[in-house]
Amino acid sequence: MKSYAAAALLLASTAISHPIEKRADITDLDILQYALTLEHLENVFYKGGVSTMSQDMFVAAGFSAKYYTNLLYVVNDEQDHVQYLTDAIKSTGATPVAACEYNFPYKDPMSFVALASVLEGVGTSAYLGGAGLIQSKDYLGVAGSILVTESIHTSLQRFNLGEIAAANPYGTALGLNQVFTIAGAFIKSCPASNPTLPLKAFPGLTATQGNPTSQGIPFTFQAKGTVPASAFVTFVSGLNTTSVPVTMKGNMISAMIPNTIAGQSYAFITSSAIAAGMSVTDNMVLFGPAVIEVTPPSPMFDIKEQ
Ligand SMILES: *[C@@H]1O[C@H](CO)[C@@H](O)[C@H](O)[C@H]1NC(C)=O
Repeated sequence: MKSYAAAALLLASTAISHPIEKRADITDLDILQYALTLEHLENVFYKGGVSTMSQDMFVAAGFSAKYYTNLLYVVNDEQDHVQYLTDAIKSTGATPVAACEYNFPYKDPMSFVALASVLEGVGTSAYLGGAGLIQSKDYLGVAGSILVTESIHTSLQRFNLGEIAAANPYGTALGLNQVFTIAGAFIKSCPASNPTLPLKAFPGLTATQGNPTSQGIPFTFQAKGTVPASAFVTFVSGLNTTSVPVTMKGNMISAMIPNTIAGQSYAFITSSAIAAGMSVTDNMVLFGPAVIEVTPPSPMFDIKEQ
């Protein structure tokens, strides 16, 4: 009996994806500081937006007055997250990281909301990826609580951009260095007094084609460096990981968007192919991630299935 149960468990575990690589070098305090680093970025981003663009400007750009009210609640939330994490870090006796100087490339309400949607999506992916690395069940509960709010923000921004809010049945987890590669691109400089965190950015990868795109469409990227012909474009979306061989067109990388990718997704150049559902480990990443937005296909469900 017992061995049957064990065999069943073993079988079941092979069907479970492994979204994030474990990192033995990361402490819970590191994760709190990492979370605060991201919350500072969001807090400064939103406060910059609402202090330089009025409700009238958002309405003139096609957003509703109700959207603007919701936006102010989002600003409130991000400020609260900064305060909560700052206090939590202080209570351990450590010095919380302070806000940095940022460079956010928006020029009007539309490009601001588009960037907000990307940042919220990355924030959600960061908490999801961080959750698997946290030791303390208490901190895990807090991370889950903030994750919920970040994903509500994500769907608010997506819906108001005209994107499908719930584009994927599953959330997408990103590892710490993967998130830092995206977030770090917006950071100009940080106070020298900030504690050094065990984070490193990978060489950059940018989408050189307009978003959103769709499954089955060729998409191009550009890497900040030479891409070996033997490399792969690895897409991560929900619990799916899909690697396709790179095709070079001049200095552009071209790859077909697989049918496993929907909503805000991430593309890496990896040194080898990664098996479906396995994590993109840091030692395999050559470039990226780049953020891509893939419109999901029509919803499909069987009304009789219970
Ligand atoms: C993986 O992709 C398929 C589409 O090929 C999709 O139906 C499914 O929901 C995805 N699964 C996960 C776990 O992300």
